[in-house]
Amino acid sequence: MQGYLQNWYIQNKRDLPWRHTQDPYIIWLSEVILQQTRVVQGLPYFLKFSTTYPSIKDLAEAPLDDVMKLWQGLGYYSRARNMHHTANLIYEKYGNSFPTSYEQMIALKGIGPYTASAVASFAFNLPYAVLDGNVNRVLSRLFMVDEPINSSKGKKIFESLSTEFLDINQPAMHNQAIMELGALVCLPQNPKCAECPLNTFCAARMKNVASEFPKKIKKQKPRDRYFNYIFIKQNNQTFLNQRFEKDIWQHLFEFPLIETKKKESLEEMLPQLKTILDTDKINSISCTFESKHQLTHQTIWADFWEIEISKIKPQKEWLKIDLQEIKNYAVPRLLEKFLIKHNLQ
Ligand code: ADE
Ligand code: SF4
Repeated sequence: MQGYLQNWYIQNKRDLPWRHTQDPYIIWLSEVILQQTRVVQGLPYFLKFSTTYPSIKDLAEAPLDDVMKLWQGLGYYSRARNMHHTANLIYEKYGNSFPTSYEQMIALKGIGPYTASAVASFAFNLPYAVLDGNVNRVLSRLFMVDEPINSSKGKKIFESLSTEFLDINQPAMHNQAIMELGALVCLPQNPKCAECPLNTFCAARMKNVASEFPKKIKKQKPRDRYFNYIFIKQNNQTFLNQRFEKDIWQHLFEFPLIETKKKESLEEMLPQLKTILDTDKINSISCTFESKHQLTHQTIWADFWEIEISKIKPQKEWLKIDLQEIKNYAVPRLLEKFLIKHNLQ
């Protein structure tokens, strides 16, 4: 069966830049970028990162803020922070060369089983099976696995199944091929079974129930949060604040923020604004932008309160900057949309 899969891959694979290299660092970079990101979206980021930081040393020595700025727009910002952190760990331990064995990779905080298997197989052709969303989906259908992919029992089942299914003579190609099948043919909705190289072996296809797999345990619904951003305009200047708390968007910059329990009206906001700005004199105020931003576990409802003011006592951690300087700071996607609308990006 694996032979059919690989022949299909040879004839149908997409020409992607990380498939032309054996450099483990570059492969690792591509895998970090592609986690939870589609190829079309990740591709320009891969090209930017691999040219800006062509070696582990370049990435390790780069200031975190530069890395975050280059990552801007890709989402899941903890990946960028962790990537930079892991680059430093690798550089300290192995210098400017990536570790060469699965055991060395997995021992590093920041490299998990998926990434270690991907780099070990793609760069060194070592026999480790990758297991990501695509692979889970293909295997769950091929073998009609009823156990949910996100239960602890299910995770164990899929782990051993992926290892059994691996072609140990061609681990790199096998891993690329099964992921590619999931990306191009065995789609989440309406899989293209008619053109699938495995359709004569596929249990779910034979019973015509492919779309019912993989099974999943339903997760709770995302929590609502209400962000009130204060866009202060004082002459040609404004204030930014860097997020340090253990929360979303750590290390990114944003306007001073008041988080509330619900959506607030102008009357409700005004006293809170006066308190945080430590002033009674606000020249003008209006809510100039409302936006909904969906994250995996949270829905952010953001209002932007534009305030003109001549004198304030800013909080000490706020950064006073020229409006034109905003574009040099890494901001969440939500803020980026606001800035684009106001010609500040
Ligand atoms: N998604 C994650 N890793 C990938 C790879 N190596 N090629 C294509 N898509 C991917
Ligand atoms: Fe997926 Fe259909 Fe191929 Fe089965 S036959 S692996 S369901 S695309």
